[in-house]
Amino acid sequence: MSAADSPITGMTSITRSLEALRATFRSRFEGAATEQALRDENAKILGRKGELTAILQQMGAVPANERKAVGELVNALKRDVELAFDDRLGGLAKGRRDAELNAPPFDLTLPGRVPAPLGHAHPISIVRDEIVDVLVSLGFAVHDGPEVEVEENNFGKLGYPPDHPATDMQDTFWVDVRRKANATPAAPVSGAGFALTLLRSHTSNIQVRAMTGHKPPMAFIAPGTVYRRDDDATHSPMFHQIECFLVDRNVTMAHLKGVLAEFAERFFGAGTPVRLRPSYFPFVEPGAEVDVGCPFCKRADGSRAGCSVCKRTGWIEILGCGMIHPTVFESCGVDPEQWTGFAFGMGLERVAVVRYGIPDMRLLFENDPRFLAQF
Ligand code: DAH
Repeated sequence: MSAADSPITGMTSITRSLEALRATFRSRFEGAATEQALRDENAKILGRKGELTAILQQMGAVPANERKAVGELVNALKRDVELAFDDRLGGLAKGRRDAELNAPPFDLTLPGRVPAPLGHAHPISIVRDEIVDVLVSLGFAVHDGPEVEVEENNFGKLGYPPDHPATDMQDTFWVDVRRKANATPAAPVSGAGFALTLLRSHTSNIQVRAMTGHKPPMAFIAPGTVYRRDDDATHSPMFHQIECFLVDRNVTMAHLKGVLAEFAERFFGAGTPVRLRPSYFPFVEPGAEVDVGCPFCKRADGSRAGCSVCKRTGWIEILGCGMIHPTVFESCGVDPEQWTGFAFGMGLERVAVVRYGIPDMRLLFENDPRFLAQF
């Protein structure tokens, strides 16, 4: 039965509904214990499908001359509901605040229950810092230089002929590859008006920068990032080296070997032997590769059993070295009749792989926290 059919007039029916709502809304709001419950209750009354909206739908049954009066009743009730809602909302907030203020005090300075996980240095940084510490304690100063280098400092002044394979596009990242018209295919050529640039392929460029910028004697190390176009289990296109060199009067290979022996002793552990094998690098003469006794298969008596890390040889190659070539001195404006020196350069990834027994060098750059957490 619709309101219109009712014996009670539309006016009476709607007024009753309004009064019924007016009689209960305050206690309903008071009964809401949380802000969410209060908002739910409010929506039941004022919402789009709420009770007041439902009442308004009865307006059609109200005779025209009574509509204004009923409309005023509706508006008044709506206003009262809104005021009561705000009131109760404020009351709930005050209640929460009072509860907080009256609660027993808590100590902000107590340590957390779950310890925050602490990060640590990357294995390459750990190894670099240790090597730097050892060499600084032997008296070497630390030198720095750019990763984008001119060709002359990376190759030319170090005695690389222009067609040396290392200067090939397949091996080196050239930043500026303008060539002279008649250059040989593989070799970008620098010359008048050209300063070819590349991503340095080793830290040996620092030898040139130091010797052209400082007067000997000098003893420097230079840790840094270097780049080559390599990518496999034992090579990464970006890797790290540390260069070490010393220039003075009457420097001999004995000084070089002394520094290497001391370094091996301090970095790889007491009694670690060193051996030099003749090798070739354009910027040293004589040149050598350096092996250290394998730290993994060392026996109590100091001998080596041979293991998979050292490929059963008992020795692990860690760096290249030699006596600075007179050509390098000359191209850096240092008189090779007065000055002699040694240099060595070591790959930090190689040392990290050897020290920690890491099976694939690329793990060092994948940044997998499960791997990094092991150091
Ligand atoms: N620069 C060489 C390389 O990247 C390493 C090296 C060999 C550095 C002999 C030296 C050295 O200082 O004397 O392979």
